[in-house]
Amino acid sequence: MAVNISRFVSVEDLRRAAKRRLPRPVFDYIDGGAEGEVTLRGNVRAFEEIAFRPRCAVETPPPHLQTTVLGTPIALPIILAPVGSSRMFWPRGEEVAASVAGAAGTIYSLSTLSGCRLEDVKKATPGPAWYQLYLCGGRDVAAATLQRARDAGFSALILTIDTAVAGMRERDLRNGVKELLTRRPGAMLPYIPQFLAKPGWLVPFLRDGGLMKFPNVVLADGPMLYADVGAMLEQSTVTWSDLRWIREIWKGPVVIKGVHTGDDARRAVDEGANAIVVSNHGGRQLDSVHPTIRVLPEIVAAVDGRIDVLLDGGVRRGGDVVKALCLGARAVLVGRAYAYGLAAAGAPGVRRALDILQADIARTMKLLGCTSLAELDRPYVSVPADWRAHP
Ligand SMILES: Cc1cc2nc3c(=O)[nH]c(=O)nc-3n(C[C@H](O)[C@H](O)[C@H](O)COP(=O)(O)O)c2cc1C
Repeated sequence: MAVNISRFVSVEDLRRAAKRRLPRPVFDYIDGGAEGEVTLRGNVRAFEEIAFRPRCAVETPPPHLQTTVLGTPIALPIILAPVGSSRMFWPRGEEVAASVAGAAGTIYSLSTLSGCRLEDVKKATPGPAWYQLYLCGGRDVAAATLQRARDAGFSALILTIDTAVAGMRERDLRNGVKELLTRRPGAMLPYIPQFLAKPGWLVPFLRDGGLMKFPNVVLADGPMLYADVGAMLEQSTVTWSDLRWIREIWKGPVVIKGVHTGDDARRAVDEGANAIVVSNHGGRQLDSVHPTIRVLPEIVAAVDGRIDVLLDGGVRRGGDVVKALCLGARAVLVGRAYAYGLAAAGAPGVRRALDILQADIARTMKLLGCTSLAELDRPYVSVPADWRAHP
């Protein structure tokens, strides 16, 4: 059934549509966070605690939303974050999202834990793409993938540093994800009706090959299996010393994702990072860390203009993007905002998510009395007084 895209007026509308279409374990995989989901909620709420300080009665021609990240021009200050298993949300999900990002003039980031081959994803987008690395399978496996990513034309490498072990996602346990991955019919049976209840998702999922493997993590016996992700992540903690051999193979720009403090930001700069992402993985890893927007000013001060500072976590409106830019981010990454769109309606859903955010940004800037992203600065926002006392 064709979906009338224009009836989605906010990211929250796309979220609700994704919830209707997806089986519960898949929706909760996107929507959920770690443990008590304190950080997941906090990321969103912290944006709400920032107030704008507009400058009214000034000329505001249509604002320019173009910027550059790592020297690459992008049409809007939004990059698609790496989102693993997107192929479970929509057939060939990573290729679909990449093609929309490219058509919108921005960067798509491909997760190591994707269901589509990295070469096919790069081909799907007319724009730039970044590859996000986990060291699943060890150094040799990662080195082979890095070589493939370079050959395919990925222009930067994201190294995610906050995943020493997969976060504790309570929703997964309640939904029987562990049992479903055993592939033992007896264990799986009680959890199967969740999938049968969503034929609009199930039929395309089966036609697309069913439960994906990870074609960009090629182990001695073939692509890594879905059930093995947790164990593989635990055996593959990335450390600062890995950055040295990774840089030797990769040679291009490296973006460190998962920076929570000024200290780690300084360390990333000292180790030669070309950009950082202030990120708590969308509240999916260590719970009860500060919301990213709250730690952004500390990190921007620590970096002191030496490299690009990006931010993700909790961006659901274009106004959130504007707030992040006022506090010193060069651009933001969005994860769930586009994943909901992908899961709700495929390519038009991703396009809709980006259109909503883009229109929000343009409108917000006009209402602020600001015509270019470069003008967005600290005096346009007011942050709660206690944010300043201690990071
Ligand atoms: C379903 C899902 C899967 C994710 N998979 C990855 C991943 O494979 N690698 C990674 O570095 N980050 C991953 N992330 C984190 C995102 O890159 C990003 O940090 C986060 O989504 C930002 O928060 P937001 O969803 O509130 O925008 C994932 C996030 C979601 C929602």
